[in-house]
Amino acid sequence: MISRRAALGIIGAAPMVALAEQLRPSLVDAGPSLRALAEARGLLFGTATANFELRQKDFEFALLRDCGIIVPEYELKRDLTEPAQGIMDFSAADALLDFAHRHGMFFRGHTLVWYASNPPWLEPMAAAAPDERIFTDYIRAAVRHYAGRMHSWDVVNEAIEPRDGNGDGLRKSFWLSRFGPSYIDTAFHAARDADPSALLVYNDYGLEEEGPIFDARRRSALKLLEGMISRGVPVGALGLQAHLGAFTRRVDQRKLEAFLNEVRATGLRILITEHDVDDGGGPVDFTTRDRAVADASRRFLDVALDNRSTMALLTWGLTDRYLKPESTREQILRGTPRMLPLDATLQPTPMREAIAQALRGARKR
Ligand code: XIL
Repeated sequence: MISRRAALGIIGAAPMVALAEQLRPSLVDAGPSLRALAEARGLLFGTATANFELRQKDFEFALLRDCGIIVPEYELKRDLTEPAQGIMDFSAADALLDFAHRHGMFFRGHTLVWYASNPPWLEPMAAAAPDERIFTDYIRAAVRHYAGRMHSWDVVNEAIEPRDGNGDGLRKSFWLSRFGPSYIDTAFHAARDADPSALLVYNDYGLEEEGPIFDARRRSALKLLEGMISRGVPVGALGLQAHLGAFTRRVDQRKLEAFLNEVRATGLRILITEHDVDDGGGPVDFTTRDRAVADASRRFLDVALDNRSTMALLTWGLTDRYLKPESTREQILRGTPRMLPLDATLQPTPMREAIAQALRGARKR
């Protein structure tokens, strides 16, 4: 097993070098780990991962080298944790948490209340008997199970969608239609009751880029957060998913900066929770795609890491290896998408270098 020292990237540890050479020599040459660069600035760097990925030793090595925090991509979604009503199983997420803590990494929880990735029984049940316990019981059970061990919880995920036409910008999800807008406050109170210490996060996408839709999303998110704070709801941070597009969309640095300053002014912390860069719409050749992905990441991170309330950066996967193959014409012509810090063979991509540079340039917390 790799020690915490090795995971921190302290070069000179002979066993680590031997293992490193065996597994992936290029990573050893990639300079300081992202974890070390982040920690030098008082930040955390990490990724979403899954148990099946960690069974591959070369990936495990890469993850231990670069990450100080992990989040399960699947194992804490309700379709997996409560497949039949009242039968909760946290064993898969427990395995990931044990792995994280054994290796000196933080662990975050994703997600408690979302309109997607729910078990098939949930929505019909909420329709038949709209009783808030259908989400508060779940929140209490999950959050209590991990109380004292969780860095942060994404309590509510993706609750805004201004295009749905509600005046408050809230998404017309089954949660909203069954329980009204107060379901969000209720969810955060239930989480706080079950764990007095975890940072409670509101997490959403589409807050980073240019255009009227993104402007409206920023406005709705800020309104939601300010409302929650004024009502004494125990929200502690905004999670910026930061799923960006390299060729189809563009980070709006000026508006992002202003938005994050407003978030900071509310007293909330900021986490970058699911960063990746979609390379769809670009040319076939890797060099151009990689450059555009890295540039988009850098444009975003230079602003997001400059805000002193930002405390962590997590990518949605560390390597392109586990991205789901798609069989669209574009995918067949262009091959594997390249949207993460390591490519499918675990070689660092220009995006990894962009992240390293952005971390080096970030102010110290
Ligand atoms: C996605 C996973 O990556 C998929 O593989 C899964 O099937 C569905 O969920 N926003 C979120 C994440 O908050 O949970 C989503 O993850 C990506 C978008």
